[in-house]
Amino acid sequence: MLIFDSGVGGLSVLKNIKKILPKMHYIYILDNEAFPYGNKTEFFIVQRSIKIINTVKNIYPINIVVIACNTVSTIALSILKSKFSFPIIGIFPDIKTAKKITKNKIIGLIATKATMNSSYIKKTIYKNISKNTIQVIGTNKLASISEKKIRGIEVSQKKLKNIFKSWIDLPVHPDTIILGCTHFSLLEKEIKKILYKTSSIYFIDSIHTVTSQIKNYLKKLHINQNIRKNIFLYSKYSISLKELLIFLKKYQFTIIKHINLN
Ligand code: DGL
Repeated sequence: MLIFDSGVGGLSVLKNIKKILPKMHYIYILDNEAFPYGNKTEFFIVQRSIKIINTVKNIYPINIVVIACNTVSTIALSILKSKFSFPIIGIFPDIKTAKKITKNKIIGLIATKATMNSSYIKKTIYKNISKNTIQVIGTNKLASISEKKIRGIEVSQKKLKNIFKSWIDLPVHPDTIILGCTHFSLLEKEIKKILYKTSSIYFIDSIHTVTSQIKNYLKKLHINQNIRKNIFLYSKYSISLKELLIFLKKYQFTIIKHINLN
């Protein structure tokens, strides 16, 4: 199984996969060289994901790919599916579930700018807007805050308040928030704190949907394990990667090394 993301967001997806499928082995690609995906063009995102899958495919036998990134999934999933023969699973902001859950009919959707500009999101919002208000925030700043938090840097309240200003200023806040980027799962607590002093809030995180999809695929297609190790590959060496290695310990990767994606 190949799992990839621009950064640590995909690790939240991996953590959930490990919980449900503890015997599964995987290759995790941290494409930190291209981080953040949220400020890239659709052309770049499509080409980059094809490059990642092809490069890994030439080194390791892969039989299933998990795109642990909403930005890549909303922009490139259908193209990738038509290019490769193995199953490719993506992650998407789940507006449908939010619609079922919201009581005050105000849904918040926060994702990267690239995700927000994708035609997938535009179409989905258009289809689901009746009877609900969808308040959107497109930001490329929040993913960087998650990257820093993982490395032990305190989350700045001021920066968070700036990102969420349009929601803070609303007379009634969304009671249901769709986390439309895998990096944001790491910041649930902080988001809750700045937006909701008293009332409750429901976060919609598609991580769980992805895991159950993987489970179904594995059962249906009788996919066997074809790698025996957990491998972590990064596309760029940097000091901040060194800081991340401590956090990676709990994932028990047996191989951690560089992969050239150029
Ligand atoms: N974690 C990613 C997502 O789910 C991308 C964040 C970024 O690189 O901008 O959208």
